[in-house]
Amino acid sequence: MADTSYTLQARGICKYFGEHTALQDIDFALRPGEVHALLGENGAGKSTLIKILTGAYHPDAGEVLLEDRPVSFRDPLHAQAHGIGTVYQEVNLLPNRSVAENLFLGRQPTRFGMVDKRRIEREATELLARYGLDDIDPRAELGAYSVAVQQIVAIARAVELSGKVLILDEPTASLDRNEVEKLFEVIADLKARGLAIVFITHFLDQVFAIADRVTILRNGRLIGTEPLTEMSRTDVVRMMLGKDISFSGGTSAVGEREVGELLVSFRGTGRTGSLQPFSLDIHKGEVIGVAGLLGSGRTEMARIMFGIDPADSGEIRLNGTPVSIQSASDAIAHGFGFCPEDRKADGIIGDLSVRENIVIALQGKLGWFRALNRDDQLEIAGRFAEMLDIRAASPDMPIKLLSGGNQQKVILARWLATDPGFLILDEPTRGIDVGAHAEIVRTINRLRDDGMALVVISSELDEVVAYSSRIVVMRDRELVAELRGENINPSVIVQAIANQSDEAIAS
Ligand SMILES: Nc1ncnc2c1ncn2[C@@H]1O[C@H](COP(=O)(O)OP(=O)(O)OP(=O)(O)O)[C@@H](O)[C@H]1O
Ligand SMILES: [Mg+2]
Repeated sequence: MADTSYTLQARGICKYFGEHTALQDIDFALRPGEVHALLGENGAGKSTLIKILTGAYHPDAGEVLLEDRPVSFRDPLHAQAHGIGTVYQEVNLLPNRSVAENLFLGRQPTRFGMVDKRRIEREATELLARYGLDDIDPRAELGAYSVAVQQIVAIARAVELSGKVLILDEPTASLDRNEVEKLFEVIADLKARGLAIVFITHFLDQVFAIADRVTILRNGRLIGTEPLTEMSRTDVVRMMLGKDISFSGGTSAVGEREVGELLVSFRGTGRTGSLQPFSLDIHKGEVIGVAGLLGSGRTEMARIMFGIDPADSGEIRLNGTPVSIQSASDAIAHGFGFCPEDRKADGIIGDLSVRENIVIALQGKLGWFRALNRDDQLEIAGRFAEMLDIRAASPDMPIKLLSGGNQQKVILARWLATDPGFLILDEPTRGIDVGAHAEIVRTINRLRDDGMALVVISSELDEVVAYSSRIVVMRDRELVAELRGENINPSVIVQAIANQSDEAIAS
């Protein structure tokens, strides 16, 4: 690395999308052996900057330098060939190819001119073992695995490729604690080997746990680059938001909350091979928080409740009357709503506009013979866009052009527009910045106070604790504990998840 002081640098970068300024005059410099956090609210320009550094986009002005030499990468593969490994925000692997093929995408070993399948499978097995992923079958289709596993595969792939720079755009959004720890070990190791690492996340704890310096963007402008040793959490948040906000951790238990009458009850509801039968009562004006590691059965429970994977045992009652929920349309007809975890696969319809994405569930509920006209659609889209502060240049803009966090808000708006009595939210604040985060939490509180029954799956314990009147804990595809009152606090939840002392948390 001779006497180079920076591994990768961007100077005076500008990027415009039509009228919209995504980046204005951005300087960014990466030192070898540092973890550099790139922070900013949704839409600040973080992913755009990464795409410019790696040749996925080309800047309208400014230059990129690799070890002090100007470079102009044609595309991410070209950047990859120069030792820059990247995990983009939305995992862009090939779900219908095998895990092994994905791991070696674009650099498959060949034998007599043919892809050497055996070899990539063997190397994939070794590689997966290094990340503690022994239980993943390299020959299986990648798409058969959860978002978290896919994310880890994407990370493993990028790490293998990164000779000089590793860029991770929200890699931890769908990972559980253990997986995050494992990733941090890998990062520490690469750092010790002198790699420069860019780390984008909305989890401030993670920034403070692992990063050396931080660069903050706001609305496409550079706010500053600072060593983290000189920053407090409040400093960072203030720089991101450009205003002083009171930042409350919200860890205090709410105790026993008044709830309304019983709305939905699940009795021995389960699905073979997916989730052990569970029983749960949900009242109006109540939030049930669902905690548990990824893969513990949280999402499976949501999908059973909403009829996507219908239950094959037990009973579901709505207002005391047994109902049959065999499909999502049954659920919608009964006033259920569901915001899924994986917005890319189950949520957004990229080519449709923000307006269309918002009204689509309501239209489905009304039936296609009662088509909402454009004015109605605009009114509804406008109302929810304002309520959730969705930032889009126009409601007619394709949703795929919105930043990740704003897309998430559109999906929430979609379900709120159907005015559901019972709403299931799977990780509603995943990948969302601090400001939008607070808004979503406020929205959950407001919906609950207006009498809605909610089930909220979340990995953010401080947050679950702040709005739930009861918390159910999932472990190994089974509902293992129901916590109330004083037990609604992060340390008890963690114990229950970890199965540390079952006596202490018996509900
Ligand atoms: N291809 C595109 N066409 C038009 N606008 C775009 C495009 N890509 C990004 N934008 C806009 O540029 C801005 C910056 O987007 P970017 O994805 O870089 O934000 P981000 O900081 O990564 O946000 P998030 O935390 O939500 O992922 C946003 O306003 C976004 O809507
Ligand atoms: Mg982004």
